[in-house]
Amino acid sequence: MLETLLQRNLDWAAERLAQDASYFKRLAGIQRPHYFWIGCSDSRVPANVIAGLEPGEVFVHRNVANLVNPGDLNCLSVLQFAVEQLQVREIIVTGHYGCGGIQAAVDGQRHGLIDHWLQPIRDTAARCLAELDSLPDHQARQDRLCELNVIAQVKRVAETPIVLDAWSRGQGLLVHGLVYGLDDGRLRNLGCTLAGPPGG
Ligand code: CO
Repeated sequence: MLETLLQRNLDWAAERLAQDASYFKRLAGIQRPHYFWIGCSDSRVPANVIAGLEPGEVFVHRNVANLVNPGDLNCLSVLQFAVEQLQVREIIVTGHYGCGGIQAAVDGQRHGLIDHWLQPIRDTAARCLAELDSLPDHQARQDRLCELNVIAQVKRVAETPIVLDAWSRGQGLLVHGLVYGLDDGRLRNLGCTLAGPPGG
């Protein structure tokens, strides 16, 4: 199986060079992506592929259920590098319908360590209980929770000292929330974009 992967890589690299002889030389020279993407680890939601972006165009952090948890040194380190060193202009939190992390958060079962990781989703579900209860069926509630989770993470990104400091320095930075449909391949804008401190 690894052989298949390596062969595909050779084919891909050769194809790129055939189209543009300086492709890798140019890419290796500098990293200056416009976007920073925070998405789910799910194999069906690769940032570059679904957003139609080339290598070099998007800086990516992925974890289960696209969460920005306080105390997650990995996510916060990546965020700081993206904002302060790469000077990305747009941060995009992308969730997806049918997210296993969202399902696991609220299915009432024990899954182990991941239950701690997913706690913020249960908090969001509890906070939005009235809205979720008003929906017609389980599927609609799950879909809406995927969206509400993204909206909550957009707010969390915007509340980090990293992003607040960037805004106070006058650095232009937008934080968006999108949700992806596994069954139609479409990204939807949840309309929760922040261009400054939440409530500020
Ligand atoms: Co997921």
